[in-house]
Amino acid sequence: MPVMLDSALPSDQPSPATQSGEVGGVQVFDLHPVEEDFRETILTCLQQQPKAVPAKCLYDKRGAELFVKITQQPEYYPTRTELKILAEHGAEIATHLADGVLVEYGSGSSKKIGTLLDAVTKAQRPLPAYVGLDISQQHLVESCEALASQYPGLATVAICADYTQPLSLPEISALRGKSKTAFFPGSTIGNLQPDEAVAFLDNVAQLVGPGGGLLIGVDLQKEKAILEAAYDDAAGVSADFALNLLHRINGELGANLDLEQFRYRAFYNEAVGRIEMYIESLVEQSASVGDVMISFEAGERLLTEHSYKYSPDGFAALADRAGFEMTSSWVDAEQLFLVAYLVARGQ
Ligand SMILES: C[S@@+](CC[C@H](N)C(=O)[O-])C[C@H]1O[C@@H](n2cnc3c(N)ncnc32)[C@H](O)[C@@H]1O
Repeated sequence: MPVMLDSALPSDQPSPATQSGEVGGVQVFDLHPVEEDFRETILTCLQQQPKAVPAKCLYDKRGAELFVKITQQPEYYPTRTELKILAEHGAEIATHLADGVLVEYGSGSSKKIGTLLDAVTKAQRPLPAYVGLDISQQHLVESCEALASQYPGLATVAICADYTQPLSLPEISALRGKSKTAFFPGSTIGNLQPDEAVAFLDNVAQLVGPGGGLLIGVDLQKEKAILEAAYDDAAGVSADFALNLLHRINGELGANLDLEQFRYRAFYNEAVGRIEMYIESLVEQSASVGDVMISFEAGERLLTEHSYKYSPDGFAALADRAGFEMTSSWVDAEQLFLVAYLVARGQ
């Protein structure tokens, strides 16, 4: 469904979101995080050595849909494990969310929030308002619309923004004066380098304010074989997801990259505790991206994503650097995944 958009550009200062429209019971705000910089970002990234793009470039509409498909693959344990933890400990988690606004960063299909909303409703502590925040606008709005129709008592707000930028919530009655808890599931924190993760958590701490909460899903360090299978599934969906970037560059930037001449690779780098995901050129080749020629050596790799894995103590120490104290945590029986509740300390 089309959305009426105003312009409000992100800056170094928290961006006051400008209302863009109301769709299917959802108040929509758009900070235009992608359009103006996708071309510039891609050209810079493809001309640097080694080639690397920020993970956010992977999430156009098709990328967001492919990510959902990844989460349904048998090898991809994080989603089902996190959902199980949220469902099993929902009553306890609900006590932390009491009557406030829940702001979900990187909300995607807004599936996990359903498990939480059911838990808080069951615990008779229904949430008054939900804010979904994602860079992939169409997917965000459609997911929030579905949520609003499923939970009619919930004020639902969609903000299309880049969560790596400082952000403040719109001044609307549904959100004004309420305590705030951030929700960052999916171990998406792992896509950020540790210093970037601290900067991100620092922005979250500013948004929720002293005493505000953060409920976060974090993938744990584990056996290499389990990790590599999760990020390179047998059905090839992870590969399609990464290679969709080339498809997106061709479509949006008038490029002629030959998708048949690239393949996807994923490795666990144990020394630094992260999965590294690449698109690898099968041959020496060049392609035009708009009016710029880009060359690849045979075997040259373009880094598309990192996914850092943490120990519970390692993550608590990282969050501490951003002023968050881990006050509760839950891990599944196989110790695959951590869900943690953290509280922002005062200044
Ligand atoms: C790994 S998926 C997680 C989706 C969902 N929260 C889950 O747990 O399944 C990451 C989500 O974050 C969004 N995203 C990635 N980078 C972003 C950025 N810089 N700002 C806002 N959203 C971003 C993507 O569009 C995607 O929906």
